[in-house]
Formats: sequence, structure tokens, C-alpha cells
Amino acid sequence: MGLQLGDAIPNFTANTTQGELSFHEWVGDSWCVLFSHPADFTPVCTTELGEVARLKDEFAKRNTKVIGLSVDPVEKHLEWERDIEETQGSAVNFPMIGDPDHKVADLFGMIHPNASNTLTVRSVFIIDPAKKLRLTITYPASTGRNFQEILRVLDSLQLVDRYSVSTPVNWKDGDDVIVATSVSDEDAKVKFPKGFKTLKPYLRLTPQPNK
Ligand code: BEZ
Repeated sequence: MGLQLGDAIPNFTANTTQGELSFHEWVGDSWCVLFSHPADFTPVCTTELGEVARLKDEFAKRNTKVIGLSVDPVEKHLEWERDIEETQGSAVNFPMIGDPDHKVADLFGMIHPNASNTLTVRSVFIIDPAKKLRLTITYPASTGRNFQEILRVLDSLQLVDRYSVSTPVNWKDGDDVIVATSVSDEDAKVKFPKGFKTLKPYLRLTPQPNK
């Protein structure tokens, strides 16, 4: 079984377009988005990597480092980066792991043999500063990812870690949030001075505490 939510991420070393790295040391005190793509010089992946490069400041605002991976070697990634800059108008500004021996892909279960024996699927992993796995999503090769959704989940996780709340369907930064069921009404009055609305005893909404 691959890594599951809450699991500690094992450390590994990897060869990347920005040099060799030791993963835990590289992540440091940041959050991390590790994502795999099936192969270099492929159309959907080209658009995805351009978009991730454009979102550099959004990830930085969230204290988040981004790192890509495919089973192609680093030399091929570097050649492909020229095409990404030319066609997407943004230069790749994050490391990409070259994983031809599938060392990292196997650790994270990024190869799904019934989809392909050799190519990594489109996986996304959000890893917190304690190196715990907080989100996994897997997309089919033919569907480019929505990286705004990854930013949205980062916002939610970082909020939930700070306050006793969770975030409702389609929530985005600035919307009302849900008071954790573990918090009594009495404690909620203190913790959430902006007040809260009780729809059901288990469903109480409050303005986002840090806005
Ligand atoms: C793509 O990025 O377009 C792609 C990669 C592998 C399989 C199918 C599509």
C-alpha cells in the first residue's frame, strides 16, 4: 500500500534540474507540493508546468515549495524546459526530479500498472512542515490539473491547523468556515469573537477568523 494521509514521508535523495537534494532538508520548515507527470515533451504536461511556474508567488505566499517529477532523466527535463518557456511564456522556476529508476515514484505509488507500467500518473502530494502527508490526488494522463484547487487546499489546511475550524464545500479564502464539533458553544463564543450561526448543533458557521 502506498503512502496514506497522515503518514510520515520517508526521506530520500533525488537528482533534480537544480542539483541533487535530500528531500527533508530541502523542504525545511516549508510546506511542499510534490507532483508527478507522465512524461516530458507531452502536451498536457507542458501546459501544467507553465502554469505552476506562473503561480510561483502564490505558492511562496503560502510558504510552499513546489517540486515536479517524471521518470525521464534530468537532462531531458532541462531540454524540455526550453519548450515550456517558449510555448507557455513562463520559465520553469522549481526543481524537477529525474526518476528513471522509479525510486521516488515507487515510494509514493506514482506508477499505477493498470494505467501504465512505465509512466507516472498525474499525482499531487501536499506535505506539511512536519513532513506528514496531508493530501493526495490522482488525475488521469489526459486531464490537466487545476492548480488553483491545490492553492485552495493549502489555504484550508493552513487555516485548519491554526484555528478549530474546517472548511465547507467550495470554500475559498475569505468565506465563512465551520466551527469544529469538538468546540462547545460556550468555548466558541470565546474562540470566535465575530460570532457564529447555528444551523444545526453540528453545523455552525463563523467568519474566517484571520480576515
Ligand atoms: C500529455 O501530457 O499530454 C500526456 C502525457 C501522457 C499521456 C497522455 C497525455
